[in-house]
Amino acid sequence: MLVASNRGPVSYTVDEDGSLRARRGGGGLVSGLSAIGPDAGALWVCSALSDGDREAVRRGVGEDGVRMLDVPADVHADAYNGIANSVLWFVHHMLYQTPLEPVFDAEFRRQWASYETYNRAFAEALAEEAAPGAAVLVQDYHLTLVPGMLRELRPDLRIGHFSHTPWAPPEYFRMLPDDIAGQVLRGMLGADRLGFLTHRWADAFTACCERFVGGLGDTRIGVHGLGADADFLRARSHEADVKERMAALREEIGAAPDGGARKAIVRVDRTELSKNIVRGLLAYRQLLEDHPEWRERVVHVAFAYPSRQDLAVYRDYTAEVQRVAAEINERYGTPGWRPVALHVKDDFARSLAAYRLADVALVNPVRDGMNLVAKEMPVVSDAGCALVLSREAGAHEELGEDAITVNPYDVVDTARALHEALTMGPAERTERSKRLAAAATALPPAQWFLDQLNELRDGTASG
Ligand code: G6P
Repeated sequence: MLVASNRGPVSYTVDEDGSLRARRGGGGLVSGLSAIGPDAGALWVCSALSDGDREAVRRGVGEDGVRMLDVPADVHADAYNGIANSVLWFVHHMLYQTPLEPVFDAEFRRQWASYETYNRAFAEALAEEAAPGAAVLVQDYHLTLVPGMLRELRPDLRIGHFSHTPWAPPEYFRMLPDDIAGQVLRGMLGADRLGFLTHRWADAFTACCERFVGGLGDTRIGVHGLGADADFLRARSHEADVKERMAALREEIGAAPDGGARKAIVRVDRTELSKNIVRGLLAYRQLLEDHPEWRERVVHVAFAYPSRQDLAVYRDYTAEVQRVAAEINERYGTPGWRPVALHVKDDFARSLAAYRLADVALVNPVRDGMNLVAKEMPVVSDAGCALVLSREAGAHEELGEDAITVNPYDVVDTARALHEALTMGPAERTERSKRLAAAATALPPAQWFLDQLNELRDGTASG
């Protein structure tokens, strides 16, 4: 069995003495694969993303079961920053400001050629590594052309592709030049099976195929709602480093003037346009306006970790998040109370600490494939948390009943939802949080992975 993805399970940095240091990443895919165990004999093909990764490839350093592809840095930059993150991600998350964007010009065509080269490098590596009849699971929008290319090179393989993002509806998808739209859809349809996180995204893909390439052909579609990894999260969130960070966070949150505990509204995201962090802050400001009784009695703990900083629009968004947070602190803060505790340095242990302390989880993306934070917080929070959840997150399909649902564009209604969450009675909050945690862990990563593999091999789900 083989897995292919742009970002792999491990990355390298070069230490001062020239030695290479490996760091294992997190995420559902990594935990899904490692839960199956090394005996599975799986090979993971991924990109060399950093200078350290490229150095590791050059020195022949690597982990068993991982092969890093050293695609030339400029080709990778065009494919990853130019096409995958600035075009396909924008289309599926419907992020364009359409009066001026997108513009599909000659530069776009040049980058598209790199995207093809990069996909071909994956297809060739997979073709070379795969045993006869092996199953190959290709991941995400970076690699939409791989299934079709691989099918031509190795018709014997069982090929699957899984999308971790939403899929754009036909009316938006058709923004892409016709030939490119066709290439993406036909590339994906080279797979035997395509997986999506929700029915909504699967239906949108099917609709695009019907409109633009005459249907799905022989390719089958499955929906696999990746769940939170409860065992890992519960164990990890009780380790010493998390407890240390809880103490620091408690201090930062502080106590209300009457000595009572302050409530914490927690969000944890990559600083990602689709996560809607700025409107989350505006909703919090509206809450402080509409319900002054919360002033000094609540803190918005907002972790916004750096992401895709090669792209100017992400750097600008990061600055805007910081500006709005500072403005709220300036306007409402008092000597003993900072209304927003914004942290931008990535720290997984501190994220778990915030999960444990959360009274309210705020998850308000404008569009999101799943959103695992919405699933993780109810599992980890010590006292159970109330979840304010965007109806545009894939997770809403499974968690909608026990969450407080919001339209992510409506900051007045999001402020109302925050108030409702803060005032929810303890019994109701505990009950709802338990049901959220149960729904969130219904399909653990290992089972999610096995289901796809089994369906790819013989068309039957095991779970
Ligand atoms: C999303 C995508 C993943 C990607 C992740 C982080 O979840 O579906 O494929 O790895 O974002 O983004 P990055 O660009 O840092 O890999």
